[in-house]
Amino acid sequence: MNGGMPNAGLSLEQAPHLLVPASFFLMVPLSLLLAGAILMHAGVASLSHPWNPQVIALTHVGTIGVLLMGMVGALYQMTPVVAGTPVAAIRVAHGVHVLLLTGLVCFVWRLLGGPAFAMTLAGYSLAMALLGFLLPVGWSLASSVTRDETTLGMRLAVASLAVLAAMGLLVARGYAESGFPDNRFLLTQVHLTVALLGWVGGLIVSISWQVVPMFYLAPSPAKRSRQAMLGALVAGLILPFAAFAMQPNNDVALSPTRLAAVAALPAALAVWFFHPLLTLHSIHQRKRRRTDASLLYWRAGLSVALLLVPLAAMASLADDYRWQILFGWLAIWGWAGMILHGMLTRIMPFLVWFHRLTPLIGKMRVPSIRGLLSQGRIKTGFAIHLASLVLGAATIVTQSDILARLTGLAITATGFSLGSSLVHVLHLGQRHLLQHPIK
Ligand code: HEM
Repeated sequence: MNGGMPNAGLSLEQAPHLLVPASFFLMVPLSLLLAGAILMHAGVASLSHPWNPQVIALTHVGTIGVLLMGMVGALYQMTPVVAGTPVAAIRVAHGVHVLLLTGLVCFVWRLLGGPAFAMTLAGYSLAMALLGFLLPVGWSLASSVTRDETTLGMRLAVASLAVLAAMGLLVARGYAESGFPDNRFLLTQVHLTVALLGWVGGLIVSISWQVVPMFYLAPSPAKRSRQAMLGALVAGLILPFAAFAMQPNNDVALSPTRLAAVAALPAALAVWFFHPLLTLHSIHQRKRRRTDASLLYWRAGLSVALLLVPLAAMASLADDYRWQILFGWLAIWGWAGMILHGMLTRIMPFLVWFHRLTPLIGKMRVPSIRGLLSQGRIKTGFAIHLASLVLGAATIVTQSDILARLTGLAITATGFSLGSSLVHVLHLGQRHLLQHPIK
């Protein structure tokens, strides 16, 4: 009765308590409410110029509140499977959760007009949160004897998180009135490259190799393609650092910042061209033909990914700032956000089933994983997410204030839809357990 899904290599002894991933996953809809509020309050200023504080605030509600929270929850869950041992000192995860939230709130507070010390507080909270996460999870992944491409990709993602955080914290000092570093723009360029391609891309790509075959019975990409993608990803993450050795110049066409962006091309092609093409093809060839609403998210997210290399080229070549904002919007909310949203609608029912219902198997009738979250709910979430994505893109193109506020409303609705789905699944699992306590 498990919906035909294996236990994903998990055993109850190794997996963290359900509360660990679930508490991070619940931060995703909460952050969407915050993003919606910023858009409704600040209007088009939050989708206008890349250096607008409101834009940087909204960006990080998306990248830290939505993506990082969801990905950290997923990594706490997946690392024991890959490493074969539980993550050490797992209780620290609750502290990581509180510190990440504090860091995010203070970061946003400062950028929306709060005092400078809010950014100092954000810096310390985020640094401590990331140390508390990176040390045990990084250690588990590094000491894993598994050498497959998924493990390598996860290691790359976690290492990228450490690097991007160090760079982000360095630039953030400027907002704490401690002065921006001289090479602020180059640091920011490499920060966002390592963040989007190494951390987000590395994780989406490597986890897709595990979950797409498992959830949809789709063929895995050939080992050689996986190795080539990882190789290109590593090359495109290392090459931009060469720009730090260049002398600053006044030639805009050949500035270190521009060259750093171009040097990331191998990684961008791996993550935003080859990976989506191969994954869309493999989904098309899947053996499980039953309709599965979570596939809508994969298809949409991967299709948006195919737009990102041309958009990144326009963002770095054209003078019009709207290209940069459109690129960021589609990368964060259209590609990564879409895939994360879809995965949460699969992972949460699986985890609740695994933690709450597997102990009851053989003792009573247990609902299937699919029975915990209806396809209708998943489709509704997708429709609202897609509407907010299109509205946001229209806002960026037209710079219309009213559209920006409508986008905020649609993001808020996405947050409510996802939040109610996650709470619904948790509630069903809890109710089952209470009705049939395990003796
Ligand atoms: C420790 C966590 C982080 C800190 C402290 C941080 C800090 C910053 C700061 C201060 C800026 C503005 C740069 C400037 O004004 O020159 C920035 C920009 C940016 N960051 Fe982060 N960041 C963090 C995490 C992330 C993550 C996880 C991502 C993506 C997954 C990300 C993506 C971006 C992007 C795309 C921009 C450019 C925003 C724009 O052009 O408006 N950051 N970051």
